[in-house]
Amino acid sequence: MKRILVTGGTGFIGSHTCVELLQQGYKVVVVDNLCNSSPEVVNRIHAITNQSIEFHKVDLLDYDSLSQVFKQHKIDAVIHFAGLKAVGESTKVPLNYYHNNLTGTLTLLRVMQEYSVFNMVFSSSATVYGDKNPIPFVETFPLSSTSPYGRTKVMIEQFLQDAHASDSRWNVSLLRYFNPVGAHPSGFIGEDPNGVPNNLMPFISQVAVGRREKLQIFGDDYPTPDGTCIRDYIHVVDLSLGHIKALEKLIASTKPTVEAYNLGAGNGCSVLDVVRAFEKSSGKKINYDIAPRRDGDIAAFYADTKKSYQELDWRVERSLDDMCRDTWNWQSKNPNGY
Ligand SMILES: NC(=O)c1ccc[n+]([C@@H]2O[C@H](COP(=O)([O-])OP(=O)(O)OC[C@H]3O[C@@H](n4cnc5c(N)ncnc54)[C@H](O)[C@@H]3O)[C@@H](O)[C@H]2O)c1
Repeated sequence: MKRILVTGGTGFIGSHTCVELLQQGYKVVVVDNLCNSSPEVVNRIHAITNQSIEFHKVDLLDYDSLSQVFKQHKIDAVIHFAGLKAVGESTKVPLNYYHNNLTGTLTLLRVMQEYSVFNMVFSSSATVYGDKNPIPFVETFPLSSTSPYGRTKVMIEQFLQDAHASDSRWNVSLLRYFNPVGAHPSGFIGEDPNGVPNNLMPFISQVAVGRREKLQIFGDDYPTPDGTCIRDYIHVVDLSLGHIKALEKLIASTKPTVEAYNLGAGNGCSVLDVVRAFEKSSGKKINYDIAPRRDGDIAAFYADTKKSYQELDWRVERSLDDMCRDTWNWQSKNPNGY
């Protein structure tokens, strides 16, 4: 039985991936410093799966503590989620983002090398496509980014390419996520942002549950059918299953490589599409205002998913209605989060 180290495993996407890993028979070790997640997640994962993860409260910046985790468990592969992820915040405290995301990843890579663990699935993002590429985004497009957060993703992808170029044992899947939303259908785990949500779906669900008065929609004069921005929403369970497919491919491969894959639905929904779908799923009215456009937002983007469909044998199976239903189930059962 393979043992997978999941960094950031108590976070939103990490916790859902831990559930799928356990349910598919993997052993799971989690390191997380809990800077953006709750220790309660460990109990919730157990409640869903009736199995336990090995949890270590460790900061990726702490080489010695991380090294102890590798010493204690024989790790076969790493899924690396841990990082700071708020685009807006990253423009205010860029050095924190570079330190945490870049130094944290370098420390992890050095420890992996020390213990001869070379399989890694890395959480990248559609933000690496920047604002100049045509849509849909294809993995071969040139990379750039418009924020310090996005630049950490571009740089980490480059670290991993360089590591492989210097030592061909590095075997890496760069998963570029589009817009992950939704929650586990049990309602035990879901997205629980600190403070004001940065993303649309948690904002809508907090309006629905009465924690916030109204949604602000940034711009209704974009060149899209209803004037609001279009994004490619993907259910977090479909996203987690994409990680398992990528992991299986890494573990089975005889020739290590570094490959990028888009994980998105391959089509776009507008902000107003999401609002209407959420109203239908929850039976709640979502009050909203139209606010000015936000700096840096582009009108529309979505993924070209041919490569991940073909090479990972992976498909999204959950619709926008499923995403809204599961988000509402989680939010209504946990109105104040964990
Ligand atoms: N959610 C999205 O919309 C989205 C989109 C694209 C990419 N991503 C990437 O996916 C990954 C997971 O995102 P998420 O939405 O689950 O975020 P999250 O904040 O819920 O999870 C990240 C976890 O990493 C932990 N962490 C952060 N820095 C750490 C450190 N130095 N040491 C140990 N733990 C640390 C946090 O406590 C948190 O539990 C991130 O790398 C993010 O950039 C997320």
